[in-house]
Amino acid sequence: MTTTELHNPAGCPVAHLQDVIPGELPAGEHMAIIDRLREASPVYTGDAAGHQYYLLTRMADIRKSYQTAAVFTNEAVTPSDPNPPYRWIPEMLDGPIHVAWRQLLTPLWSPGAVDKLKASLRDRFTEVLDSIAAKGSCEFVSEVALLFPNVIFMDLMGLPREDADQFQAWEVTILHTERTPESMELQFAAMMEVIGYFSKLIDQRRAEPKDDMISYVLAAKIDGEPIPTQDILDFCLLMFMAGLDTVATQLSYNFWHLATYPEDRERLLAEPQLWPSAIEEFLRFYSFVTPSRKLSQDTEVAGCPMKAGQVVMMPLVAANRDPREFVDADKVIIDREINRHLAFGAGPHRCLGSHLAREELLTAMTMWHERIPNYRIVPGTEVPEHGGQMGISSLHLEWDV
Ligand code: HEM
Repeated sequence: MTTTELHNPAGCPVAHLQDVIPGELPAGEHMAIIDRLREASPVYTGDAAGHQYYLLTRMADIRKSYQTAAVFTNEAVTPSDPNPPYRWIPEMLDGPIHVAWRQLLTPLWSPGAVDKLKASLRDRFTEVLDSIAAKGSCEFVSEVALLFPNVIFMDLMGLPREDADQFQAWEVTILHTERTPESMELQFAAMMEVIGYFSKLIDQRRAEPKDDMISYVLAAKIDGEPIPTQDILDFCLLMFMAGLDTVATQLSYNFWHLATYPEDRERLLAEPQLWPSAIEEFLRFYSFVTPSRKLSQDTEVAGCPMKAGQVVMMPLVAANRDPREFVDADKVIIDREINRHLAFGAGPHRCLGSHLAREELLTAMTMWHERIPNYRIVPGTEVPEHGGQMGISSLHLEWDV
């Protein structure tokens, strides 16, 4: 990663990213690059698919920008697509319609609703463990991390379990592939298939409602009107991205960490009451979500003028590892007491599924370690990390049986 100083207005410390952050790297490297960028400058410019964007690297600027939603809008949420032809709901809504959708969705994942799901989360994770425990090894990302939130999602959406493999394949194509002109075609085709799948599902639930999320949204009204079918589809697409892949990616980082640092694992085995704070610390340290915003008007961040219409990328890991905000920000401290991280975002779009996400993580982490307390990365295997939305591509683990 090389940067050059730009000719800047006085007081604006912006630098330019000369090459894009490379595609596949050893695990942890994408985040380490962001750490280096943060210490060199609070603001960068970069190019994605021919569009210039800004990148912010420090907690104070990132938090304030997410909270200033009238200027930092959700009209576009990726730098390569400043004028997107799609609109994920509620992620890409702003203003009163966004508030109305949040009011509709909040009860679905409230602490009370998540409490009722606890038993089924345990049942689903028992099935996952049953499928691998006796083998003595697994490829963790595909056999555990992607599978577990996938089956939970199938249950919530009222989808048949047989379709879980198909969902996993779509997820890998759409979210785990670097954005190049060639891959974008494949990603677009996969997205069309997902849309086709959900369109059929919406028709079925209209004809015969069930006790699931789609039927709930179909029966709902916003401003006294039923929700248009296109908007329900746009909601299903966001759920596909927000609910499935996030938990999978977080689980992969957590297990990679504990396989790499056995001293942390041993402490958690001896003091299981530390699991909740350890999970918060993993959320802080391995914050892979990198949302962007589109400027509704000219503005200024850290003394740098920015133009209306441009996209600003604000990686949450940049904020969450900022030493200006956290003591020993570059260390994983599993019993960290004060941990005001932004792994679930900030401002009006803060994650609606954070209670469910935390419960899924706690279920998986505690149940795995009760059954498979000691494990290691298979010697000689690499742990690659993909770019785009950062995440571990494969993690080969083994244990004694
Ligand atoms: C470890 C797991 C998860 C992480 C780290 C995570 C993180 C995030 C972040 C950072 C945002 C804000 C995006 C932005 O500001 O543009 C977000 C939004 C959202 N998340 Fe999550 N999420 C997780 C799991 C889930 C789950 C399990 C669900 C639901 C089943 C969910 C549902 C949503 C929804 C609906 C939004 C959009 C909220 C809005 O636009 O108002 N998330 N998530």
